[in-house]
Amino acid sequence: MDTTPDPAIDHTSPERLVERLLTEHPDADPAAVRIVRAPGRVNIIGEHTDYNDGFVLPAAIDLEIRIALVADDGDVADLTLAATGERTPIPVRPVEVIGAPTGAWTDYVAGTALELARGGLPVHGFRGVLASSLPEGAGLSSSAALELASAWALSPAGGPAVSPMDVARLAQRAENGYVGVRCGLMDQFASACGVDGAAVLLDCRSGASRVVPLPEDLVVVVTHSGVPRTLGSSAYNDRRADCERAAAIIGRHEPAVRALRDVDAAMLARWADELDGAALLRARHVVEEDARVLRVEQALAAGDLAAVGELFAASHASLRDLFEVSVPELDLLVALAASVPGVVATRMTGAGFGGCTVSLVRPDAVDALRAVVEGEYRARTGREPRLWPVRAVVGAGELPLP
Ligand code: GLA
Repeated sequence: MDTTPDPAIDHTSPERLVERLLTEHPDADPAAVRIVRAPGRVNIIGEHTDYNDGFVLPAAIDLEIRIALVADDGDVADLTLAATGERTPIPVRPVEVIGAPTGAWTDYVAGTALELARGGLPVHGFRGVLASSLPEGAGLSSSAALELASAWALSPAGGPAVSPMDVARLAQRAENGYVGVRCGLMDQFASACGVDGAAVLLDCRSGASRVVPLPEDLVVVVTHSGVPRTLGSSAYNDRRADCERAAAIIGRHEPAVRALRDVDAAMLARWADELDGAALLRARHVVEEDARVLRVEQALAAGDLAAVGELFAASHASLRDLFEVSVPELDLLVALAASVPGVVATRMTGAGFGGCTVSLVRPDAVDALRAVVEGEYRARTGREPRLWPVRAVVGAGELPLP
């Protein structure tokens, strides 16, 4: 049997999702169907700052995961993937039946069920069909989107009975504790708390956030390098350890320092000799990147697009040279995009080690950017890039039935 998804079919349309659910489960009550959704994210700026208690500026985007479902009294999330027809029963309650993680995508569902229960929130079983327009392993937070969509699907209508920020924290705990990736809060925050037409600046220490409208006359373009994020999680955890080591060493001399968030350039210069090479490079990136987030917020508010472009370029160079998470393909994409008139700002986005770039582009320059990516980039690297003009959207929730 050929289960290759047909790219011409939009599996995520509410009509198709409901139709698919009722075909798979003919006895389901159509009046009891719900559709939940959770978006991916693109980070405008503020990379590898979240787990250092710093600032990030992500936007939820209109590439998302949707689940049509009927809740039941059972203990299993019975999920069918719309694109392939694969059907998997995932035990979700009581917590004792949720075994060890298996390394599969189902871990995100199980881990979220576990954290909902630990938070004292009700969890129910369901039969559902999942469809996604969000590419997996592209660095656009498909994991966080799956956690958020699961949180909504496993909860009574209206979603988990806590704030979106609390749902984000719960999903982050699922990823840290159950899945085993020591990610910060940014991705879950963006997927839970996204705002229509805007990015959101999050202070990862206090949890305070501010809406930062994106310029209406620019398009946010996400470009996938075609390099999958393979070595991702172990290298990510290593970078995090480098940062924690740097903060601990500086903190021995400067008692107010709890995380790199508390370090400034002068402090770093004062204690640089005590840090090993990796710790010093990582710390410099984080201290400077935190400052860039606040400067991008100001530059956007002032309409100073030249400054935004420079700050993006500096962020990319720092991720390449100091944090060492870029790859040659991302560097080439950024260099090529920067050479296209009308591309205002461009840099790698997300954790790195492959994945995507984010660019702010004048609408009449999107075609020229696409031509360079699909022409010169593809020819020089042999990679299969993809490019999406995206829109900033509201965070996870429910969709009206068709
Ligand atoms: C991944 C993590 C986030 C963040 C970024 C880098 O997306 O999940 O928490 O650390 O990398 O900015």
